[in-house]
Amino acid sequence: MIAKRMREAMNLQIKHELESYYIYLSMVAYFHEQNLDGMAHWMRCQAHEEMIHAMKFFDHIIDRGGSVKLLDLKQLKTSWKSPLEAWKDAYEHEQFITGKINELIKISREENDYNAEPLLHWFANEQIEEEKNTDKAVKELEMIGNSKEGLFMVDRELGTRVFTPGSPLDPAAYTQAV
Ligand code: FEO
Repeated sequence: MIAKRMREAMNLQIKHELESYYIYLSMVAYFHEQNLDGMAHWMRCQAHEEMIHAMKFFDHIIDRGGSVKLLDLKQLKTSWKSPLEAWKDAYEHEQFITGKINELIKISREENDYNAEPLLHWFANEQIEEEKNTDKAVKELEMIGNSKEGLFMVDRELGTRVFTPGSPLDPAAYTQAV
């Protein structure tokens, strides 16, 4: 049985992961508007992963006999002045999420919740990857400055990201992937 403190903290994390989904989906729309279909594709893959992250917490709570209460989502930013600004926001958002995962790890230690550890360690590793990827895009965009050719190249590169197969709602698909 999951303890109340951990259940409430993970329940809140579902909201953060769904808000991640929501903001990245807004970025998909923004990048398409800018004709940056590679970046839109990358963010579409990312939004899909965020839904999977939410479902990992969702199923963890349920598997341990807890109840999930979905919370209101915050209205987040829907437009950006430049692709660089969007990627900077994505990097900043991932740093915020890393902080939230670290808080969950702290709670698991304080509550001696050993059953939460494998899931939280998975997320700790995932956050290293997510910060690295968004930071890399920021650095590449800063490197190219105002070069349209450079932007075209970065967009092409980001468009090669491979989409995680399977529905986020299907545990059989997401327990092996992502
Ligand atoms: Fe679910 Fe991008 O952290």
